[in-house]
Amino acid sequence: MANNDTMNRRRFIKTAAATGVLALGGAALWKFGGLGALRDTALHQFPGVLYVERLRQIVTENTGRGRVLMWEVTSPIEQQTVEVRVQGEAEIMRRYAVTDEGFTDDSIEVYQYVAELDRLMPGTRYQYRITSGGAATDWQTLYTPTGGEPYKMLIFPDSQSSDYTDWKQLAHLAWARNTDAQLFACMGDLVDNGEDRLQWTEFFVGVKEMQRSIPMAPVMGNHETYNRDWKVRLPEAYLHYFDTPKNGSKEFDRYYYSFDYGDVHYIVLCTQQKEIDAFKSGLLAEQLAWMRRDLKAHRKRWNVVLMHKDVLQYRINGRPEREEGIDEDNGRVWMPVFDELAIDVVFSAHLHTYRNRGHLYHFAKTPDKKGPLYILTGVAGNVRYPNLWIDHAFDEVTLPQPETDNYLTMTVTHEALEIACFLPDGTEMDRVRVTKR
Ligand SMILES: [Fe+2]
Repeated sequence: MANNDTMNRRRFIKTAAATGVLALGGAALWKFGGLGALRDTALHQFPGVLYVERLRQIVTENTGRGRVLMWEVTSPIEQQTVEVRVQGEAEIMRRYAVTDEGFTDDSIEVYQYVAELDRLMPGTRYQYRITSGGAATDWQTLYTPTGGEPYKMLIFPDSQSSDYTDWKQLAHLAWARNTDAQLFACMGDLVDNGEDRLQWTEFFVGVKEMQRSIPMAPVMGNHETYNRDWKVRLPEAYLHYFDTPKNGSKEFDRYYYSFDYGDVHYIVLCTQQKEIDAFKSGLLAEQLAWMRRDLKAHRKRWNVVLMHKDVLQYRINGRPEREEGIDEDNGRVWMPVFDELAIDVVFSAHLHTYRNRGHLYHFAKTPDKKGPLYILTGVAGNVRYPNLWIDHAFDEVTLPQPETDNYLTMTVTHEALEIACFLPDGTEMDRVRVTKR
């Protein structure tokens, strides 16, 4: 991802000796020597604290055995390493190489680094830190799931905002109430403008503590394809910020991807074929073929789809000519595939409203709850559409209008996927359980 320019940049080591004191996220200030013993064993002391920003874990194809770490610094740093140890043990288990994946976007040079942690053991609590010269970050936690264990994940709808205060509050509160969650997904339109670096900064502030402790599964939305002039471009910043699993595509690598977490295989689709088609064609046909291959290669007890744009078309207040039905671009295309491939749950976003439509099969409700459960996840930023959408005949649960923000949890067990929807204050608004039929 790094271009030659950024790879050839002159870089230097910025240690605490040069700058005084550096701290992770500005939360902790360490002075030399004396306090070092508090945060480390004598074997692995570093005199300085390395300051990094946006330290985050990203899901890998098999999150039980691997993890991608990404972070940024304010000035380039060379000779960085990631150290990993089993929690509770002083010995460093492994050191990992760090790649410079700096890039320039929105006229800003971003000093970004990536490390791919592999050969991890499932079911293990690890700690990791980044080191450079005489400095290191604090230890962070990293957990690798086993195949069959129950877990909880957090799911955030569109966070795009004109002011990210609400998003930051929602994300902080959701994490504070669910520090036992093992991963989180962001359902696309993470930012209002995909080129605006300031908005990305605001987005990342919201998930600051969460993303360094548990892995993130990002979904690309249409707003990730907008440039500063509000014209469509390729989702460059998004692709730089999230080193998601590769999908084997030449043209659309990482636009869509899949990963395993515990007993669930997650398929993360890219629904931006209309936007992307202006630059290169074939995204939809390629994804359709890929999804069939992917599900054959990754059979898990549960199969969950994450997609930004929704599968249904809603009537809109004030536009009587618009009818409700199945969305032509996404629903008509994907719903038969979800039926065929026995997907259990489909999460979507984009419409900024929460709707639980129950199970749909062959574009209809069935008495035996056949077909995937379809959840339109809601809104997590301040771009709200009060009283815009008219209820769809398929809607089983909607939130009171006008809607405020919401987030979701999904608890995975062998018996069921249990999905719940919450307001920012923690009030539970919906709960639904999916079992094998
Ligand atoms: Fe959207």
